[in-house]
Amino acid sequence: MQTMKAMLIREFGPPSVLKLEDVPVPEPAPGEALIKHDMIGVNFAETLMRRGLYHRGGPFKFPSKLGLEAAGRVAKLGKDVSLPDIREGSRVAAVYRKPSAYAQYGTLPADQLVPLPEDLPLEVAAAFPVQGMTAYYMLHEMHRMQPGETVLIHAVAGGVGLLATQMAKHLGARVIGTTSSMEKARLARKFGADEIINYAEQDWVREARRLTDGAGVNLILDSVGQATFDGGLKALADFGHLILFGSASGIVEHMVPQSLMRGSHTVSGFWLHSVRERPDLIRPTAEAVLKLYSEGKLEFVIDEVFPFADAAKAHEKLENRRSSGKLLLKL
Ligand SMILES: NC(=O)c1ccc[n+]([C@@H]2O[C@H](COP(=O)([O-])OP(=O)(O)OC[C@H]3O[C@@H](n4cnc5c(N)ncnc54)[C@H](OP(=O)(O)O)[C@@H]3O)[C@@H](O)[C@H]2O)c1
Repeated sequence: MQTMKAMLIREFGPPSVLKLEDVPVPEPAPGEALIKHDMIGVNFAETLMRRGLYHRGGPFKFPSKLGLEAAGRVAKLGKDVSLPDIREGSRVAAVYRKPSAYAQYGTLPADQLVPLPEDLPLEVAAAFPVQGMTAYYMLHEMHRMQPGETVLIHAVAGGVGLLATQMAKHLGARVIGTTSSMEKARLARKFGADEIINYAEQDWVREARRLTDGAGVNLILDSVGQATFDGGLKALADFGHLILFGSASGIVEHMVPQSLMRGSHTVSGFWLHSVRERPDLIRPTAEAVLKLYSEGKLEFVIDEVFPFADAAKAHEKLENRRSSGKLLLKL
């Protein structure tokens, strides 16, 4: 049996629970492809999973792999795969529903893979899928951002935040970002944010209303959750829309739908897996993000590339709010 290195967790806990172990290389089932990973993207959700805080800890069976995205090449095809651009050796990006990217190999339904151009830098290939498609789908499909609208983006200097900022600016929106440090504020401004609120020091709801002359913002991208959700409803303009797509500060436990009536507000949720599992959505979405990149309209900020064995260091940096942009693991 062929074995590979994989980063496993055998319990929930701090970054030190991540352990490099030898496990069997998975076999692709009918319709699947085996992908040999070259670079792995690290996402905030994985730090929540490791701590047992993602979707309230479930469904995890220990030992468990971790990791949602990787770029690499197709190493083997299962039976019944007949896609013209997915062959052995094809360069692809993979987004996994079942955490499994922190490993040398992974398997995925072949029709959910994203074929990649040979000249795409490896860092971009591993950085764009989860954060890029999330930012893109929210601003172009969940809410069709209009020129002149104002969007408030929480964690504006993070992976999703910097990409959403650039996309919103290209759509003609005004961007108000929130962040916790001056350094992150400077970076977000460099990538187009018009206004920054330091929510560690300022009352961000009051500031958002002041910056919009009392009107409020048209859209909020809320990945912080518990600490920001209620304030978000107060910062929205009439007919405003809040998209809840994360829980960095904890889960929003309750919402009173009646409270949406007063400002004719919309609250929606977004989860990338709804896109990922639809072959008719994942490819067009990925292609749209890569088109923005190839046209020079989107820059990926790579904060740090860690050796695969140092995944715990990447987690530590991400969950302690010391990263901006993307963290990667190099195999
Ligand atoms: N729904 C989906 O499909 C989907 C897809 C991708 C990402 N997400 C979510 O989007 C968010 C951003 O993901 P990312 O990978 O790009 O991460 P990230 O934004 O690079 O990092 C997380 C950032 O969240 C902010 N934050 C606010 N409260 C925090 C807290 N209590 N603890 C730690 N950080 C806190 C920090 O920025 P400041 O220091 O500036 O506050 C931190 O840097 C995450 O919540 C993630 O789960 C959801």
